Amino acid sequence: MMKLSSRIRRCGLSPMRQFYPYEVAAVNKGLKVHHMNIGQPDIETPPAFLEAVKDYQKNVVPYAPAPGEEAYLQAARAYYAGLGCALEDGDILATFGGSEALEIVMACILEEGDEVLVPEPFYPNYTTFIGVTGGKICPIPTSAEEGYRFASRERIEPLINERTRALLVTNPGNPTGVVLSREEMQVLVDIARKYELFLISDEVYREIVYTGEKNTMLAFAEAAENVVVIDSVSKRFSTTGARVGALVSRNHALMDEALKWAQGRLCITTLDQLGAAKMYETLGMEYFRSVRDEYRRRREATVEALRKIPGVEFTSPDGAFYLMVTLPVDDTEKLQYFLLEEFEDRGETVMFAPGAGFYSDPELGRNKIRIAYVTAPEDLTRAVVGRNPQAQQLHRSGQVLRGNQK
Ligand SMILES: Cc1ncc(COP(=O)(O)O)c(C=O)c1O
Repeated sequence: MMKLSSRIRRCGLSPMRQFYPYEVAAVNKGLKVHHMNIGQPDIETPPAFLEAVKDYQKNVVPYAPAPGEEAYLQAARAYYAGLGCALEDGDILATFGGSEALEIVMACILEEGDEVLVPEPFYPNYTTFIGVTGGKICPIPTSAEEGYRFASRERIEPLINERTRALLVTNPGNPTGVVLSREEMQVLVDIARKYELFLISDEVYREIVYTGEKNTMLAFAEAAENVVVIDSVSKRFSTTGARVGALVSRNHALMDEALKWAQGRLCITTLDQLGAAKMYETLGMEYFRSVRDEYRRRREATVEALRKIPGVEFTSPDGAFYLMVTLPVDDTEKLQYFLLEEFEDRGETVMFAPGAGFYSDPELGRNKIRIAYVTAPEDLTRAVVGRNPQAQQLHRSGQVLRGNQK
């Protein structure tokens, strides 16, 4: 029997995607599935993206340069300049979405047994990106009662040890919707500098902030060596399938190592970079504002619907398009199987991401789900409360759900 690596075996399936075969079966049975499981917005991809691809004139689609297409890098630099952050050549590396940027940085900084501090609950795929390097997540516990806030010295410093290499934060937060204040960011910067840690700031939801705070860690010049930003066009321009992201850092030693990875995988997709460049060149504040306002409507619809369900607990998010919800059930994974295999309300059912995968100890998340509010407000209302009082009863009923043994 051939052996598979213990590193990959330690990783789990994504709670956002693991139910896909059950979804296909439900759809084949004729059910309509409301998707609240995955951050796939239904907001139209800006026409600029497809126009750039259609306008492509060459008769060969060649490899792009390993660090990225110049048009994309230039447009991205102009975007960061608009945020007040001047970047030089070599400070940005084009990556396959934010996902590959995470993968690259972990490959560059972690040895077997090294630790990365991450506020919990966290984006589940961090477990994979960190796990395949042999590293592990050291969770910074947070709670719904405290609005999932974590950025204080008292909470973080006691967790730092000689194996700690980095602090990884998602700002705005997935799954919690927490948006860091400028003061909280300063606390993280001070900690990173004091303990010589990388401060990896995953800012793929940067524009989706409802409170007015829109910040980037790149603004903290004193931590230029520590800060690594993970970025992506996926959510910013509703272009998740383009797979265009960026690893951004002024730490040249890190970026030199990252280039080895980039050259090893040759390049990211040429045409998608041209489409991404066009979006950065032609869309700005006004576009971001209208998208954010749409997500605000979706948040309101979701929050209002959740408030109608007794026994459900959550905090209204300040950013991104997710919220963590505690349900009066024992195991939300079982609930998801039940909803796909046995339940229907007039030919419809729902998907969400069960909470266990968002915690290093799955038990902490068993009674939680993450909702992605990425569809139209009326669909969200329908998906959360239904229109049928019986269906609402079922959502509330711990008894029915506990009966399912899957
Ligand atoms: C917090 C966070 N980081 C990174 C990603 C990766 O996205 P992509 O690879 O599409 O840029 C996601 C996607 O959902 C995310 O939620």
